[in-house]
Amino acid sequence: MEQYSSMITGTGSAVPEKVLTNDDLAKMVDTSDEWIRTRTGIRERHIAEDGIATSDLGARAAQEALAEANLAAEELDLIIFGTITPDMYFPSAACFVQNKIGANNAAAFDVSAACCGFLYGLDLADNLIATGKYHNILVLGGEILSRITDWNDRATCVLFGDGAGAAVVQPSDGKRGIVGNYIKSDGSLAHLLNMPGGGSLLPPSKAAEDPKSFYLQMEGREVFRYAVSCMGDAATTIMSQNGFTGDDLALFISHQANIRIIQAIAKRLNVPDEKVFINLDKYGNTSAASIPIALNEARKSGRIKSGDLVLMVAFGAGFTWASSLVRM
Ligand SMILES: CC(C)(COP(=O)(O)OP(=O)(O)OC[C@H]1O[C@@H](n2cnc3c(N)ncnc32)[C@H](O)[C@@H]1OP(=O)(O)O)[C@@H](O)C(=O)NCCC(=O)NCCS
Repeated sequence: MEQYSSMITGTGSAVPEKVLTNDDLAKMVDTSDEWIRTRTGIRERHIAEDGIATSDLGARAAQEALAEANLAAEELDLIIFGTITPDMYFPSAACFVQNKIGANNAAAFDVSAACCGFLYGLDLADNLIATGKYHNILVLGGEILSRITDWNDRATCVLFGDGAGAAVVQPSDGKRGIVGNYIKSDGSLAHLLNMPGGGSLLPPSKAAEDPKSFYLQMEGREVFRYAVSCMGDAATTIMSQNGFTGDDLALFISHQANIRIIQAIAKRLNVPDEKVFINLDKYGNTSAASIPIALNEARKSGRIKSGDLVLMVAFGAGFTWASSLVRM
């Protein structure tokens, strides 16, 4: 018999209006729609207009999630925002969201786990609700990666996009909820994917010495290799820990980074194509926003029904990797 502490009662997502297609990118760097589509599966991505911050997208996603959960913002007791592109170094993007939605009774903080930010937040929320101290938690994942993208580097600029997603997490009704979570990190691999500038090691005052340090930097081929093995670990571990196989899954929601990575994990899990959710063609890799946007779209488009078992798996800088198994 499955035991649950918490359940997801509402989801929401938001992306900026502006769309940048592969053909648009081919006018900016030496690339092509054909190369991007066949190597990654991405066709277009959404890019935030100047003046829009990560918390603006987060607040929009939060309002949709709260409306579905039929919960007033004032009833939230905690806001956890997974992001590596907060509005400012400090305060947290979660505090900006708190103010924008009027969640006056909540505590708010960010989680820095790159593309795993949402699943790390979900694990935290699930465990905090289990203590009985928290009842209404808003978990967000959101990014404006376009602001840390080197638009002259064809190896990275074709991959990423902007957006946010949110979930309201509340005590389980006993019939559905979070079955299990799994989170891991390996800091010895931090050099393969990072943004070196802007922190205490290389502060903004030194920006002129190395402007490229303020852009996302990645060893794509190495990251690909680790993404496949770490997400494979996250997926198979959570399934076996809870006594499930691929046959039990109604839907597999992977971090939307590269179609070839997603297909490799699905094959390892023995999950057929029709049970694999894909929306990276529309959004690219939106880091921490990737899973909650996909979860929201899967639910709102009828791909997830009541009682379905859904697996979510992510991988990101750190490295970090994570999975969550949910009875919806
Ligand atoms: C980035 C990625 C798509 C590159 O695909 P790949 O098949 O590994 O390609 P390679 O890096 O081996 O590059 C192959 C060639 O394409 C070129 N290339 C790279 N980007 C290109 C682009 N946008 N357009 C055209 N050619 C490109 C390279 O310069 C290289 O040329 P060379 O052989 O003459 O040196 C792939 O490595 C990947 O998806 N990595 C994981 C990225 C990721 O998911 N990161 C986030 C994790 S959360």
